[in-house]
This record gives sequence, structure tokens and C-alpha cells, in this order.
Amino acid sequence: MSALDGQAALVTGSTRGIGAGIAAEFARRGAAVAVHGRDQAAADTVAAAIIRDGGKAMAATGDLTDFGQVESVRRQIEDAWGPVSILVANAGGSFTPPAPLEQIPEDGWRATVDGNLLATFLTLKSFLPGMKERRQGTIITIGSAAGRRADPRSPIPYAAAKAGIAMLTQDVAAQAGPFGIRVNCITPETILTERNQDRIPAGQQASLADAHPLKRLGTPQDVAAAATFLASDAAAWITGVIIDVAGGAVLV
Ligand SMILES: NC(=O)c1ccc[n+]([C@@H]2O[C@H](COP(=O)([O-])OP(=O)(O)OC[C@H]3O[C@@H](n4cnc5c(N)ncnc54)[C@H](OP(=O)(O)O)[C@@H]3O)[C@@H](O)[C@H]2O)c1
Repeated sequence: MSALDGQAALVTGSTRGIGAGIAAEFARRGAAVAVHGRDQAAADTVAAAIIRDGGKAMAATGDLTDFGQVESVRRQIEDAWGPVSILVANAGGSFTPPAPLEQIPEDGWRATVDGNLLATFLTLKSFLPGMKERRQGTIITIGSAAGRRADPRSPIPYAAAKAGIAMLTQDVAAQAGPFGIRVNCITPETILTERNQDRIPAGQQASLADAHPLKRLGTPQDVAAAATFLASDAAAWITGVIIDVAGGAVLV
């Protein structure tokens, strides 16, 4: 028996980065995994790699800032496999650079808040009713260390949206707990995804790592391990928590 045997999981935003790492780990632990993004070819590629490695996967696509498309993602998976029992609302990102508040453009604010807080809200709004009806399921949201404490490296719209996701998680945990649904949030510090490897110069990676008590940056596998634990029965009495997967960079 593996930790997630027999479960159907959706990991939103799993065409690359942290989401792809969680999807691959969930599949290794026995879950059937729906790989999701807006890019069909990228979702197909990640799903095919999981299948090649002996896992079960499918691709589902849709823009999560549009509720009609979120509902379509849910139907794509339910038509193929039936209900999702593990939902990881991972899709998101920061769409403005760090800047003084008065220099933040309104469209940048909206893009970041919509791409994180609204997208997470709409994802939960689509999947939670079925979970409550079945009285079965678990949800993991992805916040950020940026939403845990003020830091000049964090763009304010991103920090505010991610802090909102943490509170949204706890409110939904309180509402859904009586239905047997657990809802938890993982808040990573800088994770060395392929994109961050390319984007952050080596010297800056080293100085960032030095600012962490554990003296290294995170990996998608670090987040995937925490997500696997939270999704599994080992976390059966854990709900409404915010887990800093942050190498000690966040101590609250
Ligand atoms: N990397 C870090 O250091 C770090 C640290 C803390 C928190 N996080 C959070 O962790 C999550 C994953 O980060 P990452 O670095 O792995 O991101 P990434 O490499 O940019 O990947 C983002 C994923 O989300 C999908 N996506 C984005 N917006 C979407 C939308 N509106 N609708 C549907 N899919 C959407 C993208 O797919 P398509 O492009 O195919 O649509 C892609 O699969 C994000 O929520 C991020 O804020 C990351």
C-alpha cells in the first residue's frame, strides 16, 4: 500500500515547476493525477512522462480566473475518472516586480490578485460542493512565504494575495471540517524550479540560501513531500494549518 493509493488528484498548474513536482510524487505514491495548466501540449507532456514512469495521469486544461473554465476542468476529470478526492490549488505566480506601493499599476495588481486569490477561490468553489456532498476529500492550497511576513523582495500584490489564500484556507477548513473535509495551506520560500534556476543568478541564489537557517533553497520535491503528507491519512487530524516549507526563512 502506498500513501495515496486509489485516490484521484488534481494538481492545478502542474505543467511545470512545483505543480509538476507534486503531480509526479502523487503518482509515485499511487494516486491517479490530473495534470493541469492552460497549455494543452505542456499538460500532455507532463502527463505522458508520469505514465511512462508507471503512474496514472491525464491532462486537463482551463484558465482558472474564469469560473466557466474551472467548471470545465472539473468536468473533464469527472467524465474520465469520477470525483477528485485530492485537490491541490497550486496555480499562480507573481505578475508584477517588487515596487513602492504608489508605483504598482492597477492592472498589475488585478492580474496578481486574480491569478492567485481569485483563481484559488474559484477552484475551491467548483470542487468543494461535491466533496461536501460525498463527505470525502482533502484540499491543499499554495500560499507563499511572501504572504507570511513583509519582505522588500516580495511584490505587495503577490504578498497580499497569498496572505489572502492562507486566510481563505482557514475559513474553508472551519466550514468544511464538519463534512470530513481537510483544508491546509503550504507556504514555500524560494523554490529552485527550472524557471528560478534560470532567472536567479548563481551569486544571488547563494546569498538567498545563506539567509535560510538550513542554508539552501527549496526544491519542488520539498513541497511535494509536504503535500503528500497533508494529502495522506497520516494527516487525518490536521486541518486549517499553514505549513512554512521555507528552510527556516520564515519563523512565525
Ligand atoms: N517558485 C517559488 O519559489 C514559489 C515560492 C512560493 C510560492 N510559490 C507558488 O507556488 C505555485 C507554483 O509556482 P511555480 O514557481 O511552480 O510556478 P510556475 O513555474 O510559473 O508554474 C505555474 C503553473 O500554473 C499554471 N497557471 C498559472 N496561471 C494559471 C491560470 N490562470 N489558469 C490555469 N493555470 C495557470 C501554469 O500553467 P500554464 O502556463 O500552462 O497555464 C503553470 O503550470 C504558485 O502558486 C506560486 O505562487 C512559488
